[in-house]
Amino acid sequence: MKRTILDAHVHLLMWKQQAEPDWNSVSQTLKVANFNELDAICITEHIEADAYEKLMRGLFCSNRLGGSTQGDGSVICNGVLVLPGAELHLANNMNIGVHADLETLLSLDRRASAYTLDTLHGLLEKRGRPFKLVAHHIFWPGKTCSDLEALKRCINAIEVPAKDLTNIHKYLTLASTLNLDTTGGSDSHSFISIGACKTLINEDNTHSPLTLKKWLQSHHTTHEPDRDSLRLTALARIHRQTDTERREP
Ligand code: FE2
Repeated sequence: MKRTILDAHVHLLMWKQQAEPDWNSVSQTLKVANFNELDAICITEHIEADAYEKLMRGLFCSNRLGGSTQGDGSVICNGVLVLPGAELHLANNMNIGVHADLETLLSLDRRASAYTLDTLHGLLEKRGRPFKLVAHHIFWPGKTCSDLEALKRCINAIEVPAKDLTNIHKYLTLASTLNLDTTGGSDSHSFISIGACKTLINEDNTHSPLTLKKWLQSHHTTHEPDRDSLRLTALARIHRQTDTERREP
């Protein structure tokens, strides 16, 4: 059985306040994704980020990176399938990965706290197009959700985040309790830690390449931390901090 390897939680903007995407940095990140043997990455950029729409339209509509556009709205760049997504800050402060077609993503209210789990799920259901909702780093301080019934109703998978692997047992216990899949995500904001925790899709026997629809409808996904995940996430944190100090001396 073929395994497809994704990083299901990738940012391509360093900061929410960035006015424009840094296309050189985006290109670097995609090159490293290919180097790290990822088949696909999900761009779960913060939907409230100033440059969210510019980034997504640049990637998927204007094809700023000169990739190979697929008929379903995704694009292959540097040999890596790039899939649209968003990270939303919900009313209860938890963060959720929304995976859907670009038109659906751009139709969402981009303000932080605009949705509860149920209102977001209901809206996507009503729209009638495939989607996947992933609870991001749900045991991160301040981002938790104790409403297990709501999670069970609305969520497709629990993320095992590269940046919180010391608490991996909590994520696995929750996924097991709710009988949900897991995904792996780096939550990277630069090329450094992309792929630090991966999502594995055990595909059917058709051996057809991954598509947006296949990803959105995938079941039984699992996670796999990179053996260097701790080092990579620590380096990424230092890199981001250094960038902050450069911007705000
Ligand atoms: Fe994130």
